[in-house]
Amino acid sequence: MINNALRPYPFFARLLHWVNAVIILWAMISGGVYAFELLPDNVAKHIPPFNIAITILLIPLFLLRIVNRLRFTMPDLPISSNEKRMAHYGHLAIYALTTASLFTGVLMMERPIDIFGLLHFDPIFIPGELTKFLGLSHNISNALLGIMLVIHVGAIVKHHHHGLPILSRMMPAYSKKRY
Ligand code: HEM
Repeated sequence: MINNALRPYPFFARLLHWVNAVIILWAMISGGVYAFELLPDNVAKHIPPFNIAITILLIPLFLLRIVNRLRFTMPDLPISSNEKRMAHYGHLAIYALTTASLFTGVLMMERPIDIFGLLHFDPIFIPGELTKFLGLSHNISNALLGIMLVIHVGAIVKHHHHGLPILSRMMPAYSKKRY
């Protein structure tokens, strides 16, 4: 029997976690490197249009993830009720900040949005004070999300060091190995 401590997340939740995680980590890291002007111009010029397109495509996937998440309860873990509460609010904060980053990212746009040459949208608001405020909100939300993700990965590493390899229950191919 599989150790109850390591009961996995449902397959579709694991799949959506990693698709979301790869796109978000890419956008945050490449966006940060771009913002600090660490790339040569011929590479840097491709980052904003690519990231805008890929993060807009992430919106329906992220909404699907939320809807799917409402369909199951988190598989239980042998941790204290205090740690469970922290994990719960930590995950909630990640969902809330991801929502804020995605939506402020779209609403702050001051130029037409092009999704890989396939779809085009006009900016939602006329450029001005509101779009500037949304741009600032976007930066703040990205920074807070980055902090939460460092804490998220840190908590997983900490659990591993304490003999609770919880990464296994989020892996795309869940191993039935006993721990
Ligand atoms: C290297 C990067 C990452 C690793 C190793 C990782 C790993 C994990 C693991 C193991 C869990 C399950 C925790 C548990 O057992 O309860 C989890 C849950 C979660 N992860 Fe990540 N993650 C990563 C990146 C991300 C990113 C980029 C996001 C989104 C911005 C994210 C959002 C979440 C959320 C919201 C949950 C909670 C799932 C739920 O119960 O609703 N993760 N992650």
